[in-house]
Amino acid sequence: MADSTPPSQETLSNLLHETRSFPPPADLAANANVKADAYDKAAGDRLGFWEEQAHRLQWDQPWDTVLDWQPPFAKWFVNGRLNASVNCVDRHVANGLGDRVAYYWEGEPGDTRTITYAELKDLVSQAANALTELGVTRGDRVAIYMPMIPETIVAMLACARVGAVHMVVFGGFSVDALGQRLDDSQAKLVITADGGYRRGKASALKPAVDAAVADRPAVEKVLVVRRTGQDVEWTDRDVWWHDLVDSQSTEHTPESHDAENPLYIMYTSGTTAKPKGILHTTGGYLTQASYTHWAVFDLKPETDVYWCAADIGWVTGHSYIVYGPLSNAATTVLYEGTPDTPHRGRFWEIIEKYKVTIAYMAPTAIRTFMKWGDDIPAGFDLSSLRVIGSVGEPINPEAYVWYRKHIGGDRTPVVDTWWQTETGAIMVSPLPGVTSGKPGAAMRALPGIVADVVDENGDSVPDGEGGFIVIREPWPSMLRGIWGDPERYRDTYWSRFEGLYFPGDGAKKDEDGDLWLLGRVDDVMLVSGHNISTTEVESALVSHPSVAEAAVVGATDKVTGQAIVGFVILRSGAEEVSEETVKALRDHVGASLGPIAKPARLLAVPELPKTRSGKIMRRLLRDIAENREVGDTSTLTDSSIMDVIAKQLPSAKQDD
Ligand code: WT7
Repeated sequence: MADSTPPSQETLSNLLHETRSFPPPADLAANANVKADAYDKAAGDRLGFWEEQAHRLQWDQPWDTVLDWQPPFAKWFVNGRLNASVNCVDRHVANGLGDRVAYYWEGEPGDTRTITYAELKDLVSQAANALTELGVTRGDRVAIYMPMIPETIVAMLACARVGAVHMVVFGGFSVDALGQRLDDSQAKLVITADGGYRRGKASALKPAVDAAVADRPAVEKVLVVRRTGQDVEWTDRDVWWHDLVDSQSTEHTPESHDAENPLYIMYTSGTTAKPKGILHTTGGYLTQASYTHWAVFDLKPETDVYWCAADIGWVTGHSYIVYGPLSNAATTVLYEGTPDTPHRGRFWEIIEKYKVTIAYMAPTAIRTFMKWGDDIPAGFDLSSLRVIGSVGEPINPEAYVWYRKHIGGDRTPVVDTWWQTETGAIMVSPLPGVTSGKPGAAMRALPGIVADVVDENGDSVPDGEGGFIVIREPWPSMLRGIWGDPERYRDTYWSRFEGLYFPGDGAKKDEDGDLWLLGRVDDVMLVSGHNISTTEVESALVSHPSVAEAAVVGATDKVTGQAIVGFVILRSGAEEVSEETVKALRDHVGASLGPIAKPARLLAVPELPKTRSGKIMRRLLRDIAENREVGDTSTLTDSSIMDVIAKQLPSAKQDD
């Protein structure tokens, strides 16, 4: 099987051939917000198209130029002025929507709050007044380290209102991770809570903040929401939210900010290097967050109840719990806790209770629900759903089909949305009223977005071939840089291919030209001169009835360059893959993808190492497969999992 093709000449192999396809429901198609003509219209006049979308927002001063592009630095809606918080809240109240519910909040213990747009306006105004009292002004950075409670959103909007830059740090991150982000952003205020509820327990947040700010004099104040009532240490740097914010006036006159005023910094999870502070600004970001939320989910704000199950600590929460939905005057469900508390049907119970019509979640959650069994969602009324979405990783065709069938009642379109922290908003996705969705494919770049798949040399690949996904033209919600490091911005995203944005993902165009995302190129395996995507092999494994979840890596191999090692969670829960199953799985992969993709070795594991945002850390599995000491595990949800995996596998090496 040796192949003399130099690896650098080969693009990503296109192995998987999926033939299933689901056309949009007729009524959805007939009434869709976006119809098929949008693609051509946008392609004909891309800047005009985005200008039209920018008119979704309320501007205090119109822009004079749509785009100022000095590659790789973009300015959108130049000299336009607006206030993001006014666009998310005040203007809806002014338009008579004050009584519309902005958020149905569901605490993990079952406590609830319903917040209308009028109430949200009061809360945000009070918080903005409080920020001003604390000396926070335009350009200051504010760290937000909170559970999933309404105050988190209020804090973000209050920052936006006064022109401060928020930097939300996921509440599950450690003292070190928080400290590193405080150092990099030089935040002067931290907003936190005593704790939040997770897995049935009050889990503390304030102690991590105390430790992180102890030797960081740049942090002047810590504003603390009382959520759990647990005991907290207190210093004169600390201020209770209920003391400071609740007594403020509900009147606050917002200023307008430049379209390019920084709105937030979001640190990417970064599995190895120092996290990158991805910077987003105001006008372009809000335009694309708003448009994509309305277009991709076919949002009808008068009647839909929308729920995104992501954490606000990730970009998904920023764009699709806060800025997208609020700018569209949507009604959104916000849930504090985990999917298995107090029982494994909690998500479906929430959908039934609030009659959720649009739901958006991650493939890792979907695969977990598959593992838990079909009977759990079957016990709830999910008939309110009409569009369901997926984000964060490639969704395996099997998981897509399960999601569509068991959650979407075989009726709802599934929108597989590809984007990144850096892109700020969805870039590649089906449109639910237009696209016939293929399980596992993100399908097409949205109107106004110019994506392509290129080979090593940056040349567009023909249909039916794989390579690297690139974005050819700037887009409104693109990152404006890495906080404090313009060179790293250029190097990371703009140096691989001349003039093209390189997101770091592999992708293929199928025979119809539709796009399939194939995972990070760092994870691609090189077997006998063929670049094979981890995604395709994992999807093939997951499509076998005995496999619940799978991760594959390429381990150095004398003969083939790399050999594919598969880590599988078996549905039976077995801790070893029997010889019979090994054969069945290898044959199954061989039949789906071809003999080249057969794993050389298969190992059963009880869990897979995942980041807090649910991404599999293949780097760690590679360490195990190559018998190395396992690298940094600090970003894992559960770092003990690597010990469990390592112990179970005395040696994962193929040749011993
Ligand atoms: C990376 C970005 C998108 C917001 C949440 C994650 C992977 C994301 C998909 C998808 C295939 C996907 C990519 C991307 N990814 N969505 N629908 N299909 N891969 O944001 O942490 O910045 O991660 O997640 O590899 O580059 P992020």
